[in-house]
Amino acid sequence: MTEFPAALGECFVRVSDDLALQGWSVQADALPGELASSLASVCRALWCNDDLSPAAIGQAGEALVMPAIRGDYTRWLDDCPPCAANAAYLTIMEGLRCSLNRSLFLGLDNFETHYALYPPGAGYRKHLDRFKGNPLRTVSVVAYLNADWQPGDGGELRLHLAERILDVAPRSGTLAVFMSDSILHEVLPAQRERASLVGWFRRRPDNPLLR
Ligand code: OGA
Ligand code: MN
Repeated sequence: MTEFPAALGECFVRVSDDLALQGWSVQADALPGELASSLASVCRALWCNDDLSPAAIGQAGEALVMPAIRGDYTRWLDDCPPCAANAAYLTIMEGLRCSLNRSLFLGLDNFETHYALYPPGAGYRKHLDRFKGNPLRTVSVVAYLNADWQPGDGGELRLHLAERILDVAPRSGTLAVFMSDSILHEVLPAQRERASLVGWFRRRPDNPLLR
């Protein structure tokens, strides 16, 4: 098994504890700074080379591009040329998956993730990440890749919690993790380009814990 720096291991434990307690967790500076800036460069290169596609809402088959509801441009990591930064990110997510399984018994089986770029003015209206009729997406993870994000730049992840609203700035290195079936959330329009990696830990279709 991969050995992670102690700081990352401690971060995984805080995420597990938070998910068990409240269903969401926000960790500033979770990703090593150098990795976050490499991932930001990869996302920027994809964007500049026109290698990102307008994101759709709904599942394959009935997917629709509706920029007024969801305005980001994406590309699955599986579909990107392999590079050291992408591999390092996937290794960290594998560590988080194993850590969540050990402490929360969620039976998370695999991880899917895509780059996402929101041009100025784009957002994503309030939604849940678990599709109707497809219970596999279990835990959502967003890694933000925006250096020098300033108050007033917008683009916050807004979590609609039972007791309050929580806005998370998409600052480089921050991880937002939440239960895909229960945490309503949205992306507020940003004034600047906003880059991230958005992913989901999924269960196996035959997992007896599925509901
Ligand atoms: C999504 C999403 C949140 C964010 O892509 O489903 O909710 O902060 N993204 O980018
Ligand atoms: Mn979402």
